[in-house]
Amino acid sequence: MKILVLLVVVFSCICSSIKATVSYDDKAIIINGRRRILMSGSIHYPRSTPQMWPDLIKKAKDGGLDVIQTYVFWNGHEPSPGKFNFEGRYDLVKFIKLVQAAGLYVHLRIGPYVCAEWNFGGFPVWLKYVPGMSFRTDNEPFKIAMQRFTEKIVNLMKSEKLFEPQGGPIIMSQIENEYGPIEWEIGAPGKAYSKWAAQMADGLKTGVPWIMCKQEDAPDPMIDTCNGFYCEKFTPNKPYKPKMFTELWTGWFTEFGGPIPTRPVEDIAYAVARFIQNNGSFVNYYMYHGGTNFGRTAGGLFITTSYDYDAPIDEYGLLNEPKWGHLRDLHTAIKLIEPALVSAYPTVTYPGKNQEIHVFKPKSGACAAFLSNYDPHFSATMKFGNAQYQLPPWSISILHNCKDEVFNTAKVKSPTTQKKMTPVGTFKWQSYNEEAPSSEGSDTLAMAGLYEQLNVTRDTSDYLWYLAEVTISPNEHFLKNGQFPVLTVMSAGHALHVFINNQLAGTVWGSLKNPKLTFSQSVKLRAGVNKISLLSVSVGLANVGTHYETYNVGVLGPITLKGLNEGTRDLTKQQWSYKVGLKGETLSLDTLDGSSSVEWLQGSLVAQKQPLTWYKATFNAPEGNDPLALDMNGMGKGQIWINGEGLGRYWPANKAHGNCDKCSYTGIYNENKCNRYCGDPSQRWYHVPRSWLRPTGNFLVVFEEWGGNPDWITLVKRTN
Ligand code: GAL
Repeated sequence: MKILVLLVVVFSCICSSIKATVSYDDKAIIINGRRRILMSGSIHYPRSTPQMWPDLIKKAKDGGLDVIQTYVFWNGHEPSPGKFNFEGRYDLVKFIKLVQAAGLYVHLRIGPYVCAEWNFGGFPVWLKYVPGMSFRTDNEPFKIAMQRFTEKIVNLMKSEKLFEPQGGPIIMSQIENEYGPIEWEIGAPGKAYSKWAAQMADGLKTGVPWIMCKQEDAPDPMIDTCNGFYCEKFTPNKPYKPKMFTELWTGWFTEFGGPIPTRPVEDIAYAVARFIQNNGSFVNYYMYHGGTNFGRTAGGLFITTSYDYDAPIDEYGLLNEPKWGHLRDLHTAIKLIEPALVSAYPTVTYPGKNQEIHVFKPKSGACAAFLSNYDPHFSATMKFGNAQYQLPPWSISILHNCKDEVFNTAKVKSPTTQKKMTPVGTFKWQSYNEEAPSSEGSDTLAMAGLYEQLNVTRDTSDYLWYLAEVTISPNEHFLKNGQFPVLTVMSAGHALHVFINNQLAGTVWGSLKNPKLTFSQSVKLRAGVNKISLLSVSVGLANVGTHYETYNVGVLGPITLKGLNEGTRDLTKQQWSYKVGLKGETLSLDTLDGSSSVEWLQGSLVAQKQPLTWYKATFNAPEGNDPLALDMNGMGKGQIWINGEGLGRYWPANKAHGNCDKCSYTGIYNENKCNRYCGDPSQRWYHVPRSWLRPTGNFLVVFEEWGGNPDWITLVKRTN
């Protein structure tokens, strides 16, 4: 049977080599008649700047990659219905053309659901409010919108001649993303939707294969593929589909409140080698360059602004060694044995406990072998042919010509780099304080009861004020005995600052696992009318979960005041006034023009440790080309802008909880295994792209929510 398949392939290869085509068989993706073992890496274009793209792509090429994989970010491209943006960091065509110019292929994951630790999983927030909308199921409004956007992207790619049969670099696309688990959960409508998605995508006639990742029943001709830390046991759902690893996680994302995950390169190389020796033919590193979640693009809740991911190229675009170099050496070895890999199936023998040998020996005479030692504790001496090979624990050796060890996954030759952050400047700040707004303001909206935050803000801001007045009678006992009543506020998340008569009474926040929060504290109320101002703050919208569009944000109550003469007063249903966003946002204080609309304090008057403070400073770009960052240690929580560009959310006051035990590369890896920096801020440094700076007079604005020390903020340069 296998011989027959091979013959059919050889035949079809001869025919297809006449024109540019991409197809596949059970062994591999076939490009212009040639089966390929493809090494790919994820670089998401909006997570860096166009000025960084050529260097990132070059480093990917020098690292031995054949393919760059990216998602397409719908909410970046269509911020409001029908208004498209393909400029700047969202210049998808430019990104793809740069990849093409470097001689690499593209795997375009259109989604349009992308997950990706990206706000709302890539969906525009307006999509939720289209009448009758239900995400990712057999729902007409959703399918219409999804098809419209998918077509838009496919047509754009076609018009720029970017698909491989047109002479372009795109060799594959993706529809949906990890739909399998959702389909399993919701049953029939999920099945119908996935069938529809496959047919819809196929009908767009891109001329290149589509994949559906983590979707066991992906309908033909979609190729189902595997995502994970390891995928050697995965088999596609039909014998004529190639075995592909579309997301090999090179590390993991960081959440505010969590430590920084890392993954040893020995284990990544081991996962690749195990996959390839088991007949795998496509491996994509997720991420190869993680980059930065600029502005408010981070999603999934509590995801940090840094999306470094411990990827082979770090957030700043510098090589993360020895990871980058060791994987480059692995790719060189795989290229050497590619002719054997694409023309034979492995034969497997088991020389000892925890040991395997996989041999690829096609008729052509080429020969490649993988010697594996799965033992997490002991090294092994393995005999093969006429030679003996030493294998460290948990490692695989690759033998060219079934003889020469050209690579071992645990023998790392690349040097380790020391990452350095060197201070290059401080700032002369001016400050402006805003107060909790008055509930009578023209831009506030009074309603009875509590409303869900996203519904009110439509995510135009992280911030929503809930404002109420509470009248306290002069007869209240607490006014005499000093036992102040307890205010309890329940919120669906994500963070909450409580102000009583304009004084910050306290701050509470949730976490990625549990975004809900409760504020419960005695509060100093006085006789007469008191102002309760709740600043509810979202920290990125959910990106994953069945019908995550129904997840709530904000203060939904109950809200109670306990310890009054009457007992407990329920404030939940009383009148609340709403104000979307901060005053400073309305005034565009992040821009030079906007900032002139208020009076700023200078010198010794600059606010310290005060909530709701805007800081501004100007600075010159430091000499040289080294990447730059802001050290935000000493600050609490807020956002940063430079020359009007959103650098992202900062939150160094949220310290890393968790387990940072010693890390060994051996044994099964998971994202909790090799954590670092427990007890430190989850994110201290914030990438400042060089291309956002002018030589002089750069305008830096920081909004601090709960109070910090701006004098500690330092501009640093990042070197290896
Ligand atoms: C995958 C998903 C990616 C990303 C990753 C975690 O399941 O497909 O988009 O979210 O998890 O970083």
